[in-house]
Amino acid sequence: MNKTLIALLALWPLAAAANPFPKGDPKVGKKLHDAKCVACHQRLVGGSGSDIYTRIDRKIQTPKALQQRIAACNAQVNAGWFPEEEEHAAAHLNQQFYKFK
Ligand code: HEC
Repeated sequence: MNKTLIALLALWPLAAAANPFPKGDPKVGKKLHDAKCVACHQRLVGGSGSDIYTRIDRKIQTPKALQQRIAACNAQVNAGWFPEEEEHAAAHLNQQFYKFK
């Protein structure tokens, strides 16, 4: 085994751990999120609506909680998302706001 390969294998777990939503595509997630989720959050917090994710007392503190909140909001508003779409939205929100590793 050469050194480069060993180095790559050593880094692999780090790369995997750095993204809690590896199957989500943030670009797809942004479109889904902007279409279904923004308007209501805007009514709540004003501005672009994203303050709901960045407010100091935000509720979501872990990737799992984010996933569950998205699933709950999805069900609540009848967005009709499949689990893959929830993961796209999670990837988007995580990349933009939550920055969970
Ligand atoms: C009908 C209104 C409404 C819609 C539509 C809506 N939400 Fe929400 N959302 C809320 C409310 C209200 C809260 C704040 C709940 C709280 O403070 O406990 C919230 C909070 C959240 C949070 C947690 C923010 C934090 O505190 O960290 C996430 C994540 C979230 N929504 C995701 C979504 C997603 C994804 C969608 C689209 C599927 C969506 N929401 C659609 C009303 C809505």
